Amino acid sequence: MGLLEKMLSLLAAGTMVLSGALDEAAPQHNADGTLFLLNREYRVSDAYQPEDLVLTDVLGRERIRELRPEAAAALEEMFAACKAEIGVDLIAVSGFRDYAKQSRLWQEKLKSVGRNVEKAQEYVAPPGASEHQLGLAMDIGQRGKAQLSSNFIKTEGGKWATENCWRFGFILRYNEGWESVTGYKYEPWHFRYVGRELAKEIHDANVPFETWLIGYRVRVLQEMMKEDGP
Ligand code: DAL
Ligand code: ZN
Repeated sequence: MGLLEKMLSLLAAGTMVLSGALDEAAPQHNADGTLFLLNREYRVSDAYQPEDLVLTDVLGRERIRELRPEAAAALEEMFAACKAEIGVDLIAVSGFRDYAKQSRLWQEKLKSVGRNVEKAQEYVAPPGASEHQLGLAMDIGQRGKAQLSSNFIKTEGGKWATENCWRFGFILRYNEGWESVTGYKYEPWHFRYVGRELAKEIHDANVPFETWLIGYRVRVLQEMMKEDGP
């Protein structure tokens, strides 16, 4: 397939594929990369587990503080900056979750909503579809205040985290009004690590990660075309 055809196919597809000829320009090409897209459409199996998880040294119960090393260090810097800048303690509420744990959460949620899948998936990803399985997502709260609640955005810590997360390589993944693209209602507590290099750009674009990735892939393809020459 020529590069122009590749580009057109990518635009038509609109998002990532896990394997095949289009992979070269896709973040999915690198399962360990910080741009890996995971949602209900693009899932991982129960075999996917990062091998390099570490405990991030921030407030929060130990068993929920695992993240990939780069994200763990960035979270520590983010929490320290929040404390230094506005005197507020952020708290880690839920980091890495393996497939089995996500399955339990999903089943509990399903049960609590009378097995209504649409309702269950407003706030909980089915197993294999959660960014928490990547070790790149952290649910953040303010100590002693709203946790896993839409009220988090009304707290000082919630406002600060939303406005400043990009400085540390995180993005707010499920913003208000993005439900038709992300598939989830507004979650002011869920932050996704994408790396410092691109977090500002994604934050400033103010569009869902899925949407931003379309343009990013075109750029990668254009770079590939330049390298290929005329
Ligand atoms: N709450 C998010 C969507 C998750 O379960 O990963
Ligand atoms: Zn989350």
